[in-house]
Amino acid sequence: MDSPVVVIGGAGRLGSLVTRRLLDDGSKVRVVSRNAQRGRLPLGVELHRADVRYADTLIPALSGCAAVVFSVEPGTAETGPDAPESTVYDGVRNALAAAAQFAEQPHFVLVSQIFVTRREHPMNAYGRLLDWRLRGEDAVRESGLPYTVIRPSWLTDDRTAGDRVRLEQDDRGDGWVSRSAVAEAVVQSLRGRAAVGRTFELYNEPGQPPADWGQLLGRLKPDPVLAHWGS
Ligand SMILES: NC(=O)c1ccc[n+]([C@@H]2O[C@H](COP(=O)([O-])OP(=O)(O)OC[C@H]3O[C@@H](n4cnc5c(N)ncnc54)[C@H](OP(=O)(O)O)[C@@H]3O)[C@@H](O)[C@H]2O)c1
Repeated sequence: MDSPVVVIGGAGRLGSLVTRRLLDDGSKVRVVSRNAQRGRLPLGVELHRADVRYADTLIPALSGCAAVVFSVEPGTAETGPDAPESTVYDGVRNALAAAAQFAEQPHFVLVSQIFVTRREHPMNAYGRLLDWRLRGEDAVRESGLPYTVIRPSWLTDDRTAGDRVRLEQDDRGDGWVSRSAVAEAVVQSLRGRAAVGRTFELYNEPGQPPADWGQLLGRLKPDPVLAHWGS
């Protein structure tokens, strides 16, 4: 890709793995962060200061990009700037609006989470996190942009849950997945069209890592709302 992939949250734990993996793949990368220090980012990465809560900051940050990865920690306040409504609902909509401004429509990859359709889960007690995440996902699915929504299970920094990757699409499961497996899923989703218009959950289990991500992603059902993306 000649145009950069923008990684919003690209200085975070998952985001920095995505950034490195994209660089290894030969992609140009632009990290979007509120306050990351350039010296802490890999060489060759472009850095843009922006905050997803402020729409104006995102327009220069997303200019001319081939793809956007949104990996933003939501916060847990009930209301206000650190509430999930501000970050993973308004923030997602701000990023979508910025992405839609440009002639070339970028592939938008949203990192969400499992449990979003299970409102009764205790995580929803924190600023209605799950409700706002789901509304952010819906905004992505309805955006008209080519998109992929990835719902990781509980994140780990090691690979104790195993290397095999299991994808599901009914949001009924529970389990663990390494940040490196999620980073790989993000990068693989950006290759080709197999993951476009798809929403899926991601788990690790004992076994071998996927030999063929294309096949794994190719088995996913297109989302019902915008099934034409997959055809
Ligand atoms: N922890 C889990 O078990 C779990 C499970 C499933 C999904 N997830 C989700 O997976 C994603 C990655 O998780 P992680 O633990 O790797 O994240 P992380 O290390 O906490 O990084 C998240 C990034 O969010 C960015 N961010 C926060 N507020 C922002 C704002 N207003 N504008 C722009 N950027 C903002 C921060 O960037 P700067 O500080 O550089 O601005 C930070 O680097 C998150 O969305 C997380 O909620 C987590």
